[in-house]
Amino acid sequence: MSTFKILLTSQKGGVGKSTISANLAAYFRRQGEAVTLIDFDTHGSSSTWLSRAPNIGVVVQHKILPLDQGGNRPILDARLHLRRAATSSDVVICDLTWTDSIAGELMFEFDMVIVPTSVSEIELAATSGFLSRHRWVFDSAIHTPPTLLVCPTRVQHEQMNNNAFSKQRFPVSFMLSPPVLEAQTARDMFERGYLMDLKDACGASFNEFGKAVCAARDMRNAEQAMKKSAHASMVSSARAGNKSVQMPTARNNLLATSSTLSNQYSILGRHRLHKTRPEDSAATVNSPNGSTTSARTTTSATTSIPQFLKRIALGTLNH
Ligand SMILES: Nc1ncnc2c1ncn2[C@@H]1O[C@H](COP(=O)(O)OP(=O)(O)O)[C@@H](O)[C@H]1O
Ligand SMILES: [Mg+2]
Repeated sequence: MSTFKILLTSQKGGVGKSTISANLAAYFRRQGEAVTLIDFDTHGSSSTWLSRAPNIGVVVQHKILPLDQGGNRPILDARLHLRRAATSSDVVICDLTWTDSIAGELMFEFDMVIVPTSVSEIELAATSGFLSRHRWVFDSAIHTPPTLLVCPTRVQHEQMNNNAFSKQRFPVSFMLSPPVLEAQTARDMFERGYLMDLKDACGASFNEFGKAVCAARDMRNAEQAMKKSAHASMVSSARAGNKSVQMPTARNNLLATSSTLSNQYSILGRHRLHKTRPEDSAATVNSPNGSTTSARTTTSATTSIPQFLKRIALGTLNH
């Protein structure tokens, strides 16, 4: 299986890109994968985190893209760094603050783009604008679009109770990951350890997020393998002179999109299974590999975002 390349990006600072990049890299490493983190941010927060925390075996690089040069230069540079990292990695994770000078084509270098966003109205509006401007990337029929995973971050309990997402329209095909909760313990982990080892609700939420990313990767890989074999059989039938073979049509593309949408639901569907009953909320159990997790959240808190997802899957958002 080829290297899986993930871009963590958003235009807003402070949403948790670097925190998630460093900790997702550590999460994949703990699963036994060879991981490289490329920190494309001038601040170098994610690379510093991994370099100073107890060594978990992630290869860490800090590279600055020539973003002010515009044109193709940043893309060519990123491609070069990615290719080099890919030769020795199962997973490459890149941390990048997006700016308007970056050409959207950069996203085609990745299998998955994760966009963290807080659930405050002001940030949801910014995220919605960012995704709208790059809709052509995620809906591309010419290139293989990256899978888009929106991750609610720094989510507080009271924010999970209001259905903030339902007021927003994200006009692209995307998956929604389980939320990563806001906690002082997450801040305290900077350069000291990893969110997946936190024995609290934030740690549990991060492990749920990690599982969702793995599930989304598996879905994408399965989808790509299916497309490849369908294409191969089409080519061989065409060579054999079978006139009834048809090239993929817009309708087929639509079906691919809708199957992605139903997958969105299955990711959070799984999250839902981990919903805690109120009586469990005092007893949080968490193993380092995330096998038994139990979030310190209320029942209503864990259902509001999945409901949002279900409505997207059913196409009834804003109805
Ligand atoms: N889940 C979280 N809970 C609490 N604080 C967080 C969480 N994620 C990030 N932070 C804090 O938010 C600030 C911004 O996070 P950072 O990962 O640097 O975001 P970005 O890379 O998007 O600018 C940092 O102070 C970080 O410690
Ligand atoms: Mg950062």
